[in-house]
Amino acid sequence: MKNNKKSSKRFVLVTGGTGYIGSHTVVALIAAGYNPIIVDNLSNSKVSVLKRIKKITGKLPLFYKMDLRNTMALNKIFQKHSIASVIHFAGFKAVGESVAEPLKYYENNIQSTISLCKVMNMHSVKKIIFSSSASVYGEASVVPIKENSLPVPASPYACTKLMIEQILIDIYLADPFWRIALLRYFNPVGAHESGLMGEDPQGIPNNLMPYISQVAVGRHKKVNIFGNDYPTDDGTGVRDYIHVMDLAEGHVAALKKIETATFKKPQIINLGTGKGYSVIEILRAFEKAAGKVIPYRITKRRPGDIAACYADIKLAKKLLGWKAKRNLADMCADAWHWQSQNPKGY
Ligand code: NAD
Ligand code: UFG
Repeated sequence: MKNNKKSSKRFVLVTGGTGYIGSHTVVALIAAGYNPIIVDNLSNSKVSVLKRIKKITGKLPLFYKMDLRNTMALNKIFQKHSIASVIHFAGFKAVGESVAEPLKYYENNIQSTISLCKVMNMHSVKKIIFSSSASVYGEASVVPIKENSLPVPASPYACTKLMIEQILIDIYLADPFWRIALLRYFNPVGAHESGLMGEDPQGIPNNLMPYISQVAVGRHKKVNIFGNDYPTDDGTGVRDYIHVMDLAEGHVAALKKIETATFKKPQIINLGTGKGYSVIEILRAFEKAAGKVIPYRITKRRPGDIAACYADIKLAKKLLGWKAKRNLADMCADAWHWQSQNPKGY
């Protein structure tokens, strides 16, 4: 009976879909012919992103303002719509804040996932893609980092990611009909090429590229480079920056694989470009894109930072047939396009 009330349309539930990576993935899903439904409590995003999605794609995705930990409300969404699969982005993500307020992170990230998986189980929805992070690898890693490197998470945030991976693996061990992709992102940057959507951090940005772009637009005086005495070519930290639309398309590729049940068991996959760039290289590339000099000063190292982190990307290519297409110049040009058109964000 319950099923008769549902429309015949099959949906992909996108948790955290108004957030930075989620919103770009919703655009990529619509472009690939999927029908996304967004669930987000707007704790770190704005509802106005929906209008931007409509402007880009011509479609306004269904949206529920809801906390994932509200299991009963989530259940109603699954009763109402025929959901085929889930992409789970929702969660808190600030590494430093997680060190200061660990309970906030364990409570939100873990409880949201448990609530979500319980409801998925009740409705026999057993396909999920989870947003994990390269931060699970921590300090001890050698580069490029392979998926089988021993994880050594260095913050409560990174611990929540590793714990959620384990929760999902255990769910699969109890019920092998689950199809699970655990995607470990490196450093997502950039914006949609239209300049209509991009990263809109609340308060002072923690991450390098949004900080640089806010300096370029005049919101801060100079970039603080956290240390130039690392064992890298120019002494500044090296990371694997990936264009957010490449990342979004990586999710579409993973969704296609879990839909066709190619993955017989949970797959951990790095999503990066495989290339590392230093802080100075990013700053110079951004200056080129923005056509202006970006002032900076060298300050002391940020606690917890590592010298270099970039991905071994062979597994993504092999399992997903996916590879990032956009280069550093594209990442900076699109980030600048977004920031210069939206100096104060959404
Ligand atoms: P974001 O903060 O922009 O998006 C997360 C969204 O989840 C926000 O819109 C927020 O409102 C929502 N949310 C949080 N808790 C919720 C809850 N209990 N119920 C409903 N909605 C909730 O972050 P993002 O950069 O888009 O990251 C998405 C995912 O990718 C996160 O899980 C993050 O940990 C992971 N990730 C991000 C990065 C990065 O550098 N951005 C790197 C690796 C992994
Ligand atoms: N950096 C600066 N100045 C800044 C900000 C950053 O010099 O104002 C440097 C950092 O020291 C580091 C590099 O720029 O060398 C990148 O720092 P980000 O804060 O942009 O990114 P992280 O690599 O520290 O962490 C990010 C996300 C994590 C995620 C991780 C995955 O914040 O959530 O990438 O690799 F887990």
